[in-house]
Amino acid sequence: MSATPSDHAARTVIIDCDPGTDDAVALWLALASPELNVALVTVAGGNVGLSRTLANARAIVGLSGREVPVVAGADRPLLGAFQAEERVHGTDGLGGVRLPEGPAPQPGIAADAIRDLLRDAPPESVTVVGIGPATNLALALATEPALANRVAEFVLMTGALSEGNWTVAAEFNAAMDPEALALVLASGRPVSLVTLDLTAQALVTAERIATLRGLCDGECLRACCDIMASVPTSRRLGHRGHPLHDPCAIAWLLAPELFTVQEVAVQVECGSGIGRGRTHIDRWGRSGLPPQAKFLDRLDADGFFRLLGERLPRLP
Ligand code: BDR
Ligand code: CA
Repeated sequence: MSATPSDHAARTVIIDCDPGTDDAVALWLALASPELNVALVTVAGGNVGLSRTLANARAIVGLSGREVPVVAGADRPLLGAFQAEERVHGTDGLGGVRLPEGPAPQPGIAADAIRDLLRDAPPESVTVVGIGPATNLALALATEPALANRVAEFVLMTGALSEGNWTVAAEFNAAMDPEALALVLASGRPVSLVTLDLTAQALVTAERIATLRGLCDGECLRACCDIMASVPTSRRLGHRGHPLHDPCAIAWLLAPELFTVQEVAVQVECGSGIGRGRTHIDRWGRSGLPPQAKFLDRLDADGFFRLLGERLPRLP
């Protein structure tokens, strides 16, 4: 089959996720965007248990009409016990919104699938988007560290400069598996950090959902709006709406002009105390560590929601 011009330009992407209401929107945004060749979706237990996140990922990909392998990964962090975030995502992970069952998962496990894809890829050619606990990515890297050189960039929705949303100190994805996050941060590859400080600027409001709903009557857009409408407003953000975390990681790849960035050094606390999972983001060189990450600082929120409104109606 001959390639279209957009195939040539498309960047190969792995999305490691735990759907999750905002993961669903992120996956649909990526799948609707010709700049991205979503080559693999890997799934961890996270917002809800693995059996649900896997079924959700399959259903989300299935509804998009795109053929992308979906592979099951870790059902718990490297250390410690699994915990779910049902207050935000509901017991089924999608706020009670029912989707038709998706295609069967690809056999095998996520860390193997990630390593297989990287092994066959040229150096610095694969963008890895992590929007759940980093367990699958860490397992892949820890078992074959040399494959890190195939990664162009890690884009991680994780961490916080200020307060957490799971504990006082820690954001959910970082808190769920800090050891895994530490392994990814130590890979030596560039990292772009989507933190709670950024996603607090991407607030879903009733008005924004209504605007999106008015754009078309496609199944994906309708499900997306229903899912966003299921999420409670955030007390942390004064009930002004709720933050659409994970799609910000995809938007960074599609429209970097919507963001301002700062070079930072980042570390994650792996101790057992109240700071477990806290990310220490050094914007001013105080740690003495060389910067290894881009901290996504300011977001053009209206531009971000315009991007969603431009892309999601392209799906069925
Ligand atoms: C992150 O945690 C999950 O609940 C969301 O899907 C997002 O990836 C935000 O802290
Ligand atoms: Ca997520």
